[in-house]
Amino acid sequence: MSTTPFAGRTVLVTGGTSGIGAATAQHFARLGARVHAVGLGADAAAFDAGLDITVTELDVTDRPAVDDFFGTLTELDVLVPAAGVTLGEAELSPEGFDKVIAINLLAVQYFAYKSAPLLARSGSGTIVTLASMLSTFGSSDGPGYAASKGAIVQLTKSLAQIHAASGIRCNAVAPGWIDTPLLESVKTVAPETYTGLLARTPLGRFGDPTEVARAIAFLAGPESSFITGVVLPVDGGYLTV
Ligand SMILES: NC(=O)c1ccc[n+]([C@@H]2O[C@H](COP(=O)([O-])OP(=O)(O)OC[C@H]3O[C@@H](n4cnc5c(N)ncnc54)[C@H](O)[C@@H]3O)[C@@H](O)[C@H]2O)c1
Repeated sequence: MSTTPFAGRTVLVTGGTSGIGAATAQHFARLGARVHAVGLGADAAAFDAGLDITVTELDVTDRPAVDDFFGTLTELDVLVPAAGVTLGEAELSPEGFDKVIAINLLAVQYFAYKSAPLLARSGSGTIVTLASMLSTFGSSDGPGYAASKGAIVQLTKSLAQIHAASGIRCNAVAPGWIDTPLLESVKTVAPETYTGLLARTPLGRFGDPTEVARAIAFLAGPESSFITGVVLPVDGGYLTV
């Protein structure tokens, strides 16, 4: 198999400035892709030198800015809308709930909408969204996050149907508990939750962002050519318990 299966392909990763998104941007670039990583706190120095990664500061909820960004894009083969936040108990307030839904759900739909014409022109375009264990479970201290991630699953299945005729496949990964700044925030706001999550993960550890990136690349590439509308857990067995 080629070591650069994404050579000549253009990949857009939102939330590409940290955690799973940054690992995904770097992974696709190592597989030969030209990568656009957008998000907050953009820092090109965070990536290995020599990779074709363009890092852009962009708030995914700022639609005029997103429109401007898409105005600069001429090609796109893969969209990974990974930007996401959790605010803990602040999500119990309407303002916190709305903020999480705006970033984790509405912006994903908007990026998919804006990407669709370019992905259709690609001929083998793909979208890989970020679901979660909280697509399956409710959350007393993160209702906005759980609602957004439940909705991402149905959005992903719907996009799979909407865009199938254009040759665009759309799938999701559902990461278990992955060692990123987002998980660090759980450690801070809910330490008992943090240790409980580790205890019920059969493989006995948190995942590495690159392990999620590899699953995303599988769903984005030709090896999964007859797969669309699925949600692939990448969770160390968490959902089996
Ligand atoms: N870490 C986990 O255990 C885990 C588990 C399941 C799902 N996920 C999902 O994976 C995705 C990435 O999470 P992570 O753990 O890497 O988080 P992270 O905190 O490391 O990174 C989040 C990214 O989202 C970006 N972002 C946040 N708000 C934004 C905004 N308004 N505009 C643009 N970018 C914005 C940040 O800049 C950052 O790049 C999220 O969708 C998250 O829900 C993570």
